[in-house]
Parts: sequence; C-alpha cells; structure tokens
Amino acid sequence: SNPELQNLYEAHNWLTKLYHHLLRHTKEGKDGYELLKERGLTDETIDEFQLGFAPNSKDFTKKFLENKGFHPQSMVKGGLLSYNENGQYGDRFRGRVIFPIRNHQGKTVAFAGRSVNGNDPKYLNSPETDLFHKGKLLYNFDLARAEIRKRGEVVLFEGQMDVISAYQAGIKNGIATLGTAITDAQAKLIRRYVERVIICYDSDDAGIEASYKAANALKQAGCEVRVATVRDGKDPDEFIHQFGSESFKQQVLDTSATYMGFMIQYLKRGYNLQHEGDRIAYIEKVLDEISKMDKPIERDHYVREVAADHDLSVDVLEKEIIDRRKKQG
Ligand code: GTP
Ligand code: MN
Ligand code: MN
Ligand code: MN
Ligand code: MN
Repeated sequence: SNPELQNLYEAHNWLTKLYHHLLRHTKEGKDGYELLKERGLTDETIDEFQLGFAPNSKDFTKKFLENKGFHPQSMVKGGLLSYNENGQYGDRFRGRVIFPIRNHQGKTVAFAGRSVNGNDPKYLNSPETDLFHKGKLLYNFDLARAEIRKRGEVVLFEGQMDVISAYQAGIKNGIATLGTAITDAQAKLIRRYVERVIICYDSDDAGIEASYKAANALKQAGCEVRVATVRDGKDPDEFIHQFGSESFKQQVLDTSATYMGFMIQYLKRGYNLQHEGDRIAYIEKVLDEISKMDKPIERDHYVREVAADHDLSVDVLEKEIIDRRKKQG
C-alpha cells in the first residue's frame, strides 16, 4: 500500500515501544511511571495500553527517529516532531506521559501526551494527519470491540484515563472521543456495532453539557441512550480510584438514567420551577422532547410523569404532543 502511510505507521510503532520502555525501565521515565502509579494503574494495565513517557528533551525523539532513517520533514507532517521558528526540528512531546492512540485495527496512529508537572496544556495531542482523523476515531475501540458485542452495550467516556481505569476495573466495553464533542461519524460508527450506549462523562458543567450533546447525536444515530451520573463532582477515573469498581458499576452504571429521564433533569437547568413562567417554559421544552419519541408507549409514559409532577391534566398534554407531531410532519 501507500509507502508514506506505511512509513508513518512504522514511526508510530517505534515511538510507542520507545516511550513505553522509557517509562517502565529507565530513570528518565520515572516521573511518568510514578504519576500512573499514583493514579492506581498496575504494571499490567500500563503494559496492555503501552503507556509511555517522552523525555523532557529538545531532540531525544528527533535523534532516535533520524537514527532509524525517518526524515524529519515527514515526521513533522506526521505530528511526531515539531519545527520551530529558528528553522530547527525538535521533539513535539516533551516531559509527558504518552497515551498511544490506536486505530480500530490496534495500530498506533497518534499520541496524547499528558503533562506531569502541571504545565499547560494538560494534554497535548497529535494533530490531524494522514493517519489520524480524530473525528472518526473511537479510543480503545480495538480492545473493547469484542466486549461491546458480547454485552450489547458500550460505555462512552470523556477521557482516556477514564477508559483505562474502567478497563482495569473490569469494564472492558469502554471507549472515548479524544477531548472533542462526539461527531456524527462517530455516532454512526457506534450504532453499526451496538444499540445501547451509556454516556458516562465527568460530573462538572462541561461534562453535563457534553452529555446533552452526545445524547442528542447518539439518539439521532438510532442508539438507545442512557446517561450515567458520577457523584461528587468527580470523573469516572477518580470515582473508581476512590470507591472501587463494584460501587462504580452499582451506583453509576446501573443507575444510569434513560434518555428522557436525563432530559427531564437537564432541561431544568436555568429555570426556577417555583415561578410559573419558568415552569411553563420548562414544560414546553420537555413536551418538545417527548413529541420526538417514536414509540407511543414511551410518549404516554412520560406524558403521565410530567402531568403528575406538575399537576397538569394528561388530556391537555396529549393534545400538546399531537400539535407538535403535526408540525414535525
Ligand atoms: P486527567 O486529569 O489526566 O484525569 O484527565 P481527564 O481525562 O480527567 O481530563 P479532562 O476531564 O480535563 O478532559 C477530558 C479529555 O479531554 C482528556 O482525556 C483529553 O483527551 C482532553 N483534554 C483535556 N485537557 C486537554 C487539553 O488541555 N488539550 C487537549 N487537546 N485536550 C484536552
Ligand atoms: Mn479539563
Ligand atoms: Mn472533564
Ligand atoms: Mn476528567
Ligand atoms: Mn480525570
């Protein structure tokens, strides 16, 4: 096949091994190893995900790649080296824990580098390259695929640390997008393999907003969506670390809300339901959502719930739904 692509695959493969070796077996990688240990990862997990460390050097990676016969120019294009203002090639990832980003066949096509000393940005990712199209890639899909099929369910996380912690805790059907909102291409890809998706993002505001967007995109793609909530402002990785995998399964995954259950809560944001005007605006939004549901039984269920919650008549709400559905065509 295409020799340029082949070349880039090889460079990623070499660096995956190099960075992993440095983390596991050298003092240069100690900062990275200790960070992962503090976060509760076992050697086995570190090995399985080939986690590594890129040393804090201007040209360590550059020299390594040159020795292997790779041209700096194509390595810049591949996102592995950088080209600075002084016209010099140098290392792109410096002093960072390296998460190899594998494509769906298990080959490394990019890296995410996490700083170990609080430097900004927290994560530095590979740019878009001929190998890496981040809007089409689902992190960990290669390892998770069999389990996704077996369980008929996938868990969608926000970050790679969440995926890895969950995997170590025995939840092996987890995937993530890479720090970006889920794209339609990713939603469709998920739907090709599985119907049921549990969105399990961080419990901060950004995570809740992202859950809302992901829920819509996945619903649009035809998935049965559930949304899990991690308590106490934590993310899944922190929750598992603190409370263990059984708590995570029982208190987070097993208590995930249905799509509408989530929406009914989410849409309350920004309204004061004690005020009549706010309450009506909120109910209008909920009715918009209910009217989009395909199954009459589901619509009926939520109409009754809203009627009971807000002391309204089911008949009136049903009429509202019928009006909306007529407009939708
Ligand atoms: P940890 O602090 O290592 O546990 O990271 P996290 O996964 O909890 O990060 P966070 O919740 O802040 O962000 C979720 C995901 O967004 C991360 O896994 C990254 O993929 C991505 N992300 C976070 N910060 C940055 C950043 O500064 N730059 C880029 N490009 N991506 C980021
Ligand atoms: Mn962040
Ligand atoms: Mn987050
Ligand atoms: Mn997080
Ligand atoms: Mn985290």
